Amino acid sequence: MTSAAEPAGEGRVLHTPMTAVYPEFPGKVAVVTGAARGMGARFTSALAARGVHVVGGDINAGQMSATAGELNATLATQALHEQPGTVVGAGVDVTKADEHEALAQLALERFGRLDFWVNNAGIFPFALVDEITPEQINATLSVNVEGVLFGAQAAARHLGPGGAIVNMSSVSAIRVRRGRGAYCTSKAAVAHLTESLAVELGDKGIRVNAIAPGYIDTEMTRWVREDPAALRHALDTVPLHRLGSPEEVVGPLLFLLSDSARYVTGHSIAVDGGSRHV
Ligand SMILES: NC(=O)c1ccc[n+]([C@@H]2O[C@H](COP(=O)([O-])OP(=O)(O)OC[C@H]3O[C@@H](n4cnc5c(N)ncnc54)[C@H](O)[C@@H]3O)[C@@H](O)[C@H]2O)c1
Repeated sequence: MTSAAEPAGEGRVLHTPMTAVYPEFPGKVAVVTGAARGMGARFTSALAARGVHVVGGDINAGQMSATAGELNATLATQALHEQPGTVVGAGVDVTKADEHEALAQLALERFGRLDFWVNNAGIFPFALVDEITPEQINATLSVNVEGVLFGAQAAARHLGPGGAIVNMSSVSAIRVRRGRGAYCTSKAAVAHLTESLAVELGDKGIRVNAIAPGYIDTEMTRWVREDPAALRHALDTVPLHRLGSPEEVVGPLLFLLSDSARYVTGHSIAVDGGSRHV
């Protein structure tokens, strides 16, 4: 992997594209949830640029369709190592198990196989612990935890040996964030669920790992950029003193899906500038 150096600064993020080549990727097929924007869209783009066909699912079906169209158009103009994969967008609500199965069927109908599944969709609600309503905790656990479980169940039905699942956990799985009690709980559950899935799906030769990002600059964390006190706190408490970019989570995702990680399962990789230690 190579990347051009760029100085870190006040709230700066590094968007410089990185190059990582995985010869085993072209022709493989992935499902990525929450792919309309943010990290899911960036993961989709990075996989397709390496020859992987991607079915991207998002609850925002209109934005998902637009993102798929934009990614296909952009990939067609780029000088890539590989013939790019095709991106297909679909509406999905990850809280509905049958909608995951529909994503899997779409991938099989369009591309004839399924190799990777990325459980990326998530929500990040704010409520102090003494104010969390039953609706908020249920919605958070439903999207962030059941969404991962149902995705993994669909993947387990269709992935063969060598298949790989990556779940999005968070540094919040191990570090408390004020006002994010429901979210932290859900991401701790994702980290542990990843381990349970790895143990049981190992019987099928399927690997299951998680990524635990820190502050990554997306719509989900736009409030950090827009609140000077929150940005100062973030920069003070991240040992690398800057936010991360979606681009910087791509490398760990590709590694975990690739044959380079074929003996890695049940693991959470922190991509947090070191913030889990502070
Ligand atoms: N951004 C960060 O700093 C950060 C840090 C740690 C973990 N994460 C996790 O990474 C993942 C991606 O985060 P992001 O920053 O790109 O977020 P984002 O808000 O930019 O994107 C999340 C996507 O998920 C979709 N989504 C939400 N609910 C859904 C549902 N029920 N069904 C299908 N799609 C749904 C949204 O429409 C959106 O497109 C999330 O799981 C998030 O919790 C993010």
